[in-house]
Amino acid sequence: MQNILVTGGAGFIGSNLARFLLTQHPDYTIVVYDKLTYAGNLDNLRDIAKNPRYAFVHGDICDAAAVERAVREHAIDTIINLAAETHVDRSIMDADAFIRTDVYGTYVLLEAAKKFGLRYHQVGTDEVYGWVEEGSSKETDALLPRSPYAASKASADLLIHSYVVTHQVQATITRGANNIGPYQYPEKVVPLFVTNAIDNLPLPLYGDGRQQRDYQFVLDHCEGIDLVLHKGKVGEAYNVGTGREIYNIDMARMVLQMLGKPESLIQYVADRPGHDRRYSLDVNKLRVLGWEPGHTFEQALEQTVQWYVDNEWWWRKLKSGEYVEYYRKQYAERK
Ligand code: NAD
Ligand code: DAU
Repeated sequence: MQNILVTGGAGFIGSNLARFLLTQHPDYTIVVYDKLTYAGNLDNLRDIAKNPRYAFVHGDICDAAAVERAVREHAIDTIINLAAETHVDRSIMDADAFIRTDVYGTYVLLEAAKKFGLRYHQVGTDEVYGWVEEGSSKETDALLPRSPYAASKASADLLIHSYVVTHQVQATITRGANNIGPYQYPEKVVPLFVTNAIDNLPLPLYGDGRQQRDYQFVLDHCEGIDLVLHKGKVGEAYNVGTGREIYNIDMARMVLQMLGKPESLIQYVADRPGHDRRYSLDVNKLRVLGWEPGHTFEQALEQTVQWYVDNEWWWRKLKSGEYVEYYRKQYAERK
């Protein structure tokens, strides 16, 4: 691998991954290809913008001609796809862009991988397994997505499988648990709670707050992706998470404690329709490749909270315009 196209690289995980790959692999060139939707942000890549091994291409993964042009112009040999609509609540409001980008966009990239003989890696999600009432999901478990977002990501995983089997595309998938860390758009629960708490605003906790998530540090996830890219078996999927679940209410209390804010800021609001109460990943398959998460949940949360405290320049300007409109629609009537 020499020249990697990181699609969706101006988003949260993609920008962390672009930076991580540049550091880990001094001989690689990283080309970020991104549509710059509301979630894409060139500020996320500001510190690597002048790196001679980095380039940015503004484009849509649904645009086959633009994807092919980027592949040719940058002599791309590998695609890592992170371009997606990613927020479950938005997929409940309107799933259109999710189907376009997460499903059709994946198809366009697979066609490019087939045509140019590229290595392909898909950054997938644990949400494809659906609500896990007991035990932990293995990669061979049935895909039972329950939100339009999760269904769009599961569709992408199935398409990839079909391209491996039918067209021998050299593809792998990672299915990651919830990420936290620097540069996460403040619609996702942790940066939403942290930035609201800093401003003494309510933390809207869905339902009884006893849903469980495996919150992992974004750079641990990036390490897992890198490992599967280099050591994973083509055609296989790998779960990436810590294997430990946390209740949302406990996460909210810890955020408030870390910021020295009162618990009275927690505001219970109506639950998310179809809310998956628990995800849980069996990560033994990735462990066999030599992987261990580098951060505990407490360390990951601490570093995340500190980053938002130190980087108001980054998030304050995001909490305007489109965000305010979305926040009103999502929370104003939610009692
Ligand atoms: P994000 O919402 O922060 O960023 C998504 C990026 O994709 C943005 O930069 C956006 O501009 C870009 N994008 C959207 N539509 C596009 C299109 N049509 N063409 C090109 N670019 C487009 O997302 P994230 O949280 O960084 O997630 C990245 C990937 O990881 C997604 O595929 C997501 O499903 C997956 N994932 C996320 C998590 C998580 O906790 N955030 C966990 C597991 C897996
Ligand atoms: O599990 C991986 C997935 O994690 C990724 O595939 C998704 O792209 C990513 O958005 C994330 O999905 P979740 O739905 O788990 O993340 P979110 O931050 O939206 O919510 C986390 C938990 O917090 C969930 O149980 C819902 C709850 N929540 C969320 C918001 C936004 C609240 O209680 N209040 C909120 O305001």
